[in-house]
Amino acid sequence: MPEKKIVIAIDGYSSCGKSTLAKSLARKLGYAFIDSGAMYRAVTLYALRHHLVKDLIPDEEAIINSLGQINITFQYDRETEKNTTFLNGENVEEEIRKLEVSENVSPVSAIREVRHEMVRQQQRMGQEKGIVMDGRDIGTVVFPNAELKIFMTASPEIRAQRRYLELFQKGLEVSLDEIRKNIESRDHIDQNREESPLRQAIDAVVLDNSHLTPDEQLDWAYRKAIELIERNDR
Ligand code: DC
Repeated sequence: MPEKKIVIAIDGYSSCGKSTLAKSLARKLGYAFIDSGAMYRAVTLYALRHHLVKDLIPDEEAIINSLGQINITFQYDRETEKNTTFLNGENVEEEIRKLEVSENVSPVSAIREVRHEMVRQQQRMGQEKGIVMDGRDIGTVVFPNAELKIFMTASPEIRAQRRYLELFQKGLEVSLDEIRKNIESRDHIDQNREESPLRQAIDAVVLDNSHLTPDEQLDWAYRKAIELIERNDR
């Protein structure tokens, strides 16, 4: 493996497999993987538990004042080969994936101060490079100089089906219709918020994975990454 490490930013719509790709790409390259959405989900879980958000309406001031009490960390679990999210030392990996969090996360993540704090922490995690981070604003705001930027997309029907299957396998019962509505509403809020909305960076390569298997998309991204790592190494 060449010595010089790069930063890989993966952005895109909700539920189009960003984390799946980011995780497998990081593993293949021996890089760190950070799911930035998990950080916004953890803040949202904190807000829900402290009654600082209800029915998609966040108490912005109270959430901003709580930021100092929210400590988010990640740990790699060797057994499950998964990254686990911790909120103030508690494993919240499962809880942050629940629909109540999904429903409230976009309004919470639209709060400017919340974004500033998360971006600051994300930039710190990427200081040493050798990182794959997925989210909505990674290639545009967090790492505008990332060597590889991938913008992922897939049709809304396929995304809803994939999410449905994922939740079903975890034993969580949600209707396909509820999921589709949640995906559409999150896409809308994420694209139209004032602070760092979801946008394709001009230097991003687009990956529509509607008809690709996880292995096919990994091969595609890995080849792109190696090309850039080698160029960066010269
Ligand atoms: O990737 P995800 O679906 O788990 O992200 C959950 C929410 O967090 C998403 O609806 C928007 C927000 N988010 C964001 O605003 N910026 C990021 N970099 C990542 C996620």
